[in-house]
Amino acid sequence: MEKTLPKFPEKLFACWHPVGYTHEITADAPFGTFVLGEAIVLWRTSDGSVHAMRDLCIHRGTALSLGWVQDDCLVCPYHAWRYDKKGACVLIPQAPEAEIPGKAKTPVYHCQERFGLVWVALKDPEYALPEIPEYENGAWKLVKTGPFDWKSDSSRQVENFTDFGHFPWVHPGLLGDPERPEVPDCKVTLKDSVLHYSVVRPEATNSDDFPIFANEEVMKPERRSVYELHLPYTIVLRLGWGGAKGMVYFFTSQPISHNKCRGFCIIGRNYDLDEPDTILQNFEQVIFDQDKRIVESQRPEQVPFDFAEELHLKFDVVAMNYRRAMKKHNLDY
Ligand code: FES
Ligand SMILES: [Fe+2]
Repeated sequence: MEKTLPKFPEKLFACWHPVGYTHEITADAPFGTFVLGEAIVLWRTSDGSVHAMRDLCIHRGTALSLGWVQDDCLVCPYHAWRYDKKGACVLIPQAPEAEIPGKAKTPVYHCQERFGLVWVALKDPEYALPEIPEYENGAWKLVKTGPFDWKSDSSRQVENFTDFGHFPWVHPGLLGDPERPEVPDCKVTLKDSVLHYSVVRPEATNSDDFPIFANEEVMKPERRSVYELHLPYTIVLRLGWGGAKGMVYFFTSQPISHNKCRGFCIIGRNYDLDEPDTILQNFEQVIFDQDKRIVESQRPEQVPFDFAEELHLKFDVVAMNYRRAMKKHNLDY
């Protein structure tokens, strides 16, 4: 018997969710995707602006994303009805002279571009996107990695990104050292819809394959990591090694459905500006693939927000606070 899936909470529809890197949504063809199980089509008008609407033609339910863009309209692939950027049908080629019924439209969604990503909110958004001054400052170079398509809920993908205890075991030699498995204490505070915490922890030395961290002169490298977890699925992580060199990781997960998500990870740094992007991209592909097989095995596919369901120890403080905060904001299910 098929198990019934939990219903997404209403509040999740009122959050900004990433739907693609800006370069994935071109002027040439519409781009179809899903957010919280809803089919969405993204497309651009000739001024370059991006639009999001329900990926469904009112005539016979065809996916508009299979169509094309013409004269700043999205054209359905089946009978070529045309929709403008407000979602209104403006041409029915089979009866061009007849009045277009008022029902001939498709819902449009909030849509914006920020941090090299396109974002969609299905209802009026309740939280603003994070501020990342480093990303607006020409001294930092940004590298887009992934995207990372996983068969899990976004909550599991985000929680994995916040979890320090697995570094020595899942990423030995790259992010952690099995000889130093202890997790440092950290204090988590919730301010509005953002969890704040930071840790100083030992990390693996740079490997020859991936010389990406700025810790080369230190014998026992220590990394300072300052986290902001913006509910529901976005993380801003600032890394430093005590000097002027820094990295800012921006991670966000697209909730496609209950057991499907897509992670986007943009990495900014103010050093090694000439290094080819592929070094970071290949490094993150290795890291995310190491995580993927673990997270895809987790059951249930969603983080269980009820504390009784899993076993939490003191070093799981971030996961516990994430669950508590998601509940408090009615984002749990
Ligand atoms: S199904 Fe879209 S025009 Fe007929
Ligand atoms: Fe990991």
